[in-house]
Amino acid sequence: MAVSHNVFRGTNSVADFFDPDKNPPLPLVEIPDRLNPYRRDGVRIYAKMLTHLPAQNVKSLPALKMLREIPEARDNVIVEASSGSTVLSLGIIARVLWGHNNVNAYVTNKKPPESLNLLRLFGITPHLYGGLAQQEPTDETGIMCRLRRLVTERHDTVYPGQYDNANNWKAHEQWTGPQILKQLPETNIFCTTVGTGGCITGTASYLKSQKPSCRILGVFNVFGDATPGPRHFQGFNTCGFPWAEHVDTFVEVPSVDSYRMSMHLSREGLIAGPSSGQALRGLLDYIGQLKKAGGLSQLADETTGEVSCVFTCSDLPYHYLGQYFQKLGADEFPPIQNKILLQCDQLRHDERWILDPPQALEMLRRPTTLDKKNETSISSTSLSSNLEATPPPPTLWSTLRSCLSGVLTTSFSPPANRGPPTTCCPTHSTTLLLPADNTTPLVLDLRSPQAFQTQHIPHSINLPLAALTPELVANGDLFGDADAVHAVWSGMQALFAGPQVAGLLEGVKRDGRAVVLVCYDGDASRLGTAMLREGGVEGFSVAGGGGGGGGGLFL
Ligand SMILES: Cc1ncc(COP(=O)(O)O)c(C=O)c1O
Repeated sequence: MAVSHNVFRGTNSVADFFDPDKNPPLPLVEIPDRLNPYRRDGVRIYAKMLTHLPAQNVKSLPALKMLREIPEARDNVIVEASSGSTVLSLGIIARVLWGHNNVNAYVTNKKPPESLNLLRLFGITPHLYGGLAQQEPTDETGIMCRLRRLVTERHDTVYPGQYDNANNWKAHEQWTGPQILKQLPETNIFCTTVGTGGCITGTASYLKSQKPSCRILGVFNVFGDATPGPRHFQGFNTCGFPWAEHVDTFVEVPSVDSYRMSMHLSREGLIAGPSSGQALRGLLDYIGQLKKAGGLSQLADETTGEVSCVFTCSDLPYHYLGQYFQKLGADEFPPIQNKILLQCDQLRHDERWILDPPQALEMLRRPTTLDKKNETSISSTSLSSNLEATPPPPTLWSTLRSCLSGVLTTSFSPPANRGPPTTCCPTHSTTLLLPADNTTPLVLDLRSPQAFQTQHIPHSINLPLAALTPELVANGDLFGDADAVHAVWSGMQALFAGPQVAGLLEGVKRDGRAVVLVCYDGDASRLGTAMLREGGVEGFSVAGGGGGGGGGLFL
């Protein structure tokens, strides 16, 4: 019986959550007319959302039933030949039931690394095998036969064996079939994809036993064109499950159509992976064939006059994300706007690298080695209190020497196509607030030479960044303009890579000095700071750029 209000409590809470008998039936949702071209022909199509099982895939039910029926699995190693839904469900449910944590997946080495990592995320150990990716259960040299032999030799190991374990299909006979018929007694067609054949055999067995007129459609892969989960018909032929007496017909669907249809389903809110799209595509193809042959009305329900169809949604799309973009055309997805931003500004920004002006002033007055201990420890004393605490002006000679320290050590010459780098001026000898030697941060000013000449931080070096155009400066919203971000980023890269600046930065790094970047509003220097940090320089920017307002540092 379902628990009250869907609340699961106590020591068995999660096991109860995984127990279909303690849950409402999985949703059966009619697809929107947009996805049903036969709605006007009286065809109604419902998605059976097996994705709403707690492990979010069709194999949760067989995994639960197989484990329940092999109680010795509790204390033994569990092995299974599966890279997807089955072993994921076994791994999750074994832990839910018994706290078991030794489930091993035997997986083709052709699986993408994300699939292997998905297993590892759930604590399942992948064991890779080479050769053919999708192997036949009857192949004597294949993985399934090897595992069957393994468990005869090793008595501490159990192999549920989804391909020949009757509890695989019986799980669907016990739960999926009865749920569907109870939810939709007028079901005329049941359609699902076929992998091991568990879902189709079990569901069909129940539906046919209760409603023999119900038509069963199996959907297969096209040989050599795999949709993950289902198989191709040729391989399925040898399946030992009693499917042949229940399955009326089958169709094959190319993988590209499976992916596309599942994308459409997902976009309509029925979030489902490729095999679910394959089931719906196969169903629509079959209905199309029936309509063409004039056989649709024969299937219509006596009570409703309509043809009611159910197909299965078997898993979610997320772990196939890469394949959607390989299979489908770029024009099937919305384009990424401002794509140019993927080519620049990919480095980390960190708010701790933005100094507010009082912090910057404090830092410029102190040896950087003090600040290095903890970059967040810079005290935020107000600018005015710092001004009052200004040390006495140094001599003219020491001022000049320190003003030029950046260039004296690196024989500075102008970078190509930019204004000349300008060092600070002797006028600051009389108004000098900030001591500068090779223990205080180096200040690099990215503004134009004109702006620099008008005002700047004493001892700073002007590195004009041509990409900071007057228009951009006037606009004042660098990060609102993707092209401008790219231009500033590229310009900054070229600026920092130029031999003189690169040499200067190397020297700064060697001396353990920080670098404070200033600009018009703080945005460009934030980009520059990220770049400096990437290069191992302890860079900072100043909120607001460094100039302006009451917090301005420019003199
Ligand atoms: C995503 C997915 N869809 C469909 C199937 C087919 O189910 P069955 O094995 O019951 O035929 C599988 C089987 O693993 C699957 O993983």
